[in-house]
Amino acid sequence: MAEKWAPDSWRGKPIIQVPEYPDADKLGEVEARLRASPPLVFAGEARSLKRALAKVADGEAFVLQGGDCAESFAEFHADNIRDTFRVLLQMAVVLTFGAACPVVKLGRLAGQFAKPRSSNVETIDDVTLDAYRGDMVNGMDFTEASRVPDPERLIRVYNQSAATLNLLRAFAQGGYADLHKVHQWNLGFVADSPLGARYRDLADRLDETLAFMEACGINSETTPQIRETDFYTCHEGLLLTYEEALTRVDSTSGDWYCTSAHMLWIGDRTRQPDGAHVEFMRGIANPIGMKVGPSMDVDELIRLIDILNPENEPGRLTLVSRMSADAVTEKLPPLVRRVRDEGKRVVWVCDPMHGNTIKSSTGYKTRPFDAILTEVKGFFDVHKAEGTYAGGVHFEMTGQDVTECTGGARAITDDDLSDRYHTHCDPRLNASQSLELAFLLAEALKEGRQAEPERAAARS
Ligand code: PEP
Ligand code: CO
Repeated sequence: MAEKWAPDSWRGKPIIQVPEYPDADKLGEVEARLRASPPLVFAGEARSLKRALAKVADGEAFVLQGGDCAESFAEFHADNIRDTFRVLLQMAVVLTFGAACPVVKLGRLAGQFAKPRSSNVETIDDVTLDAYRGDMVNGMDFTEASRVPDPERLIRVYNQSAATLNLLRAFAQGGYADLHKVHQWNLGFVADSPLGARYRDLADRLDETLAFMEACGINSETTPQIRETDFYTCHEGLLLTYEEALTRVDSTSGDWYCTSAHMLWIGDRTRQPDGAHVEFMRGIANPIGMKVGPSMDVDELIRLIDILNPENEPGRLTLVSRMSADAVTEKLPPLVRRVRDEGKRVVWVCDPMHGNTIKSSTGYKTRPFDAILTEVKGFFDVHKAEGTYAGGVHFEMTGQDVTECTGGARAITDDDLSDRYHTHCDPRLNASQSLELAFLLAEALKEGRQAEPERAAARS
C-alpha cells in the first residue's frame, strides 16, 4: 500500500537541485500569492493530452517535444514565442504529412525556467559564486547579489508563463495554425536555405491535398482540425514550491492536477525513488515524463514505473531516453526490453541533446548535429530490434537563427558559434537545423510505422 500523498508530502523527503531561500517569510508570502492565483492550464486539457499520449503508447501517433533549454526574462518577446511555435508547426507538418502520422505537439515553454546544475558553484578566474539555476531562481550575471535566490522570481515566472500561454492559445486556435497557411510558416532565414525549398515543395503538395479535400466538402469550416491545432506545454518540474502552489483539486474528477503546465517531467538528476520529486509527481494526475540517462538501472526503472504509474495507465508516463550517440545502442536495449517484457504501457521518447553536449575548440558548450542525428537513429534502431515503438523526440531548439549547435545543412563551425550564441543554458538547434531533423525523422518514422502490424500482433 502506497503512503498517503498530499501536494506537500514531498516536503518530508530528501531533495536536491533546489535553492535555499535566505528569506523564508518572503518565500511563504510568494507561495500564498501563487496559491491564490488562477490555474494556468485546466485539468480537462491535461486529460486530453493524456489521451493523445495513450495513442502514442499504442503506436498510433508521435510526440514532438521541443523548446528552449531555459526560458529567460530577457528573451521574453512575442516574436520569440511565435517563431518557436511556428518552427514546431513546420516540423509537425513535415512529420504528419511525410509519415502519415498524427503528431502530439508539446512545447518546452511557458514554464521552463529552472535548471538542475552539475555543480552548485561556478568559478571564474579565482572568484567562486553559487551557480545560476535559471531565471526562476537567481540571475545569470556573475555577481554575488545576482546569484542570491529571490522568491519574487516565481511570480515573474507565473506571469510570463500566463502571457506566453495566452499567445500560444491564440496562435493554436485563432487561425494562425490553419493548414492553409503552411507556406506562410516558412521563416525568412529558413526560406532561403535548401531546407526552405524542400519545405516549399511539401507545402505545395499539401496545398494540392487541401484543394482536393475542399472539392470533397472538407474544409476549415467543416473540419476544425484543419483550422486549429492542439498545442500543449511542459517543463521540468524542478521547483516544487512553485509546482505545489499551483496544484489544485479538479472539481470534475476529484483528482489533483498541477496547473502550471499540461505535462511535467522529472529530470535525470532528481529521479531518486525515495526523493521529493518522485513523491510529488506520483500524486498529480497530469501526464508526466521522466528522463532516463545512462546511469539508470533496469530494476530501478521498473520500481520507478510502479511508483509513478501504478495503474499502468497508457499516456500517463513518458520515458525520455538521453543516452548519448555513443551509448544509446548499448544502454537502451536492456531497459526497453525489460519494460516491454513486464507489459508496462509507456511512451518512449528520444532526447538526443543532453547526452551529446561537448565543449567546442572555441570554448563554447555545443552539440554536433551529426551526434544528435546518430542518437535519434540509434533510438529508432533499438525499438525496431525490440519490436517496440519509438514514440517521439525531445529537442532543445528555437525558432531564432542562433549559432549554438554545430553542423547541419548550413554547416555551422566551431568558429561560427560566437556569432549568435544566446542560450541561457544548453545549446539549441536553430530553426533550419530543426526542420532538417524533421525531414530526416519523417523517413525513419515512416519506416518504423510500417512495422506496426507486427507490434500490434505482439501486444495482443
Ligand atoms: C533538460 O532537459 O534541460 C535537462 C536538464 O535534462 P536532464 O535532466 O536530462 O539532464
Ligand atoms: Co538542457
